[in-house]
Amino acid sequence: MKLFLDTAHVADIETAHSWGILGGITTNPSLAAKEGLEFHDLIKAITDIVSGPVSAEVVADTPEDMLAQASELVEIADNVVIKVPLTRAGVSAGARLTAEGIPINVTLVFSPAQAILAASIGATFVSPFLGRVDDIANDGLALLAEISEIYEMQGYDTQILAASLRHPQHVVESAKLGADAATMPFDVMDKLFNHPLTDIGNERFNRDWDAYQQSLAERRDA
Ligand code: E4P
Repeated sequence: MKLFLDTAHVADIETAHSWGILGGITTNPSLAAKEGLEFHDLIKAITDIVSGPVSAEVVADTPEDMLAQASELVEIADNVVIKVPLTRAGVSAGARLTAEGIPINVTLVFSPAQAILAASIGATFVSPFLGRVDDIANDGLALLAEISEIYEMQGYDTQILAASLRHPQHVVESAKLGADAATMPFDVMDKLFNHPLTDIGNERFNRDWDAYQQSLAERRDA
């Protein structure tokens, strides 16, 4: 399962990139709005750092307007993936984009039926929003499990991108349920590293190493 960052914040993207674990980026209009940069400049800055897929969302009411935006976004870099909402207009635009060989990520997916629509138009990614399903007291992981089962059964090529993840356990469970990728906020990715026994063990190894070097130095000097 690839690890994606769900952000448009360039400094966080640089940090995660430096960790060597960054498989791609998803952005959305709300995340982009926080950054105070022109959208195209923002996507360019992100694609300058990340070589994996970078999702850039179209925001319009008609397929034609979505396609017009998509045609500009795909010019920014080869790894731009066009994010379309799971609306009638979004699916219509998405179908035309995939027919032209342009990769799409179908977003705002909250049901297995919607995930079937995304696969039927040949989407590269489908993004079920687990956290937002949990927010309304439903079961986001159960949704992912159902989509995973259907995709396996049908042999769909569309990759499942578990989205709207809120904590490390969402990431672990997504991996267990067969998600191809998981996109998460920076703080969730950062928390994947944490374990108190790693900190204690690392501290002890460092201390023992220093003592070992010290004793060798003393023996050399004796
Ligand atoms: C996915 O691509 C979306 O940007 C995202 O995961 C939404 O997450 P949220 O529910 O935390 O806003």
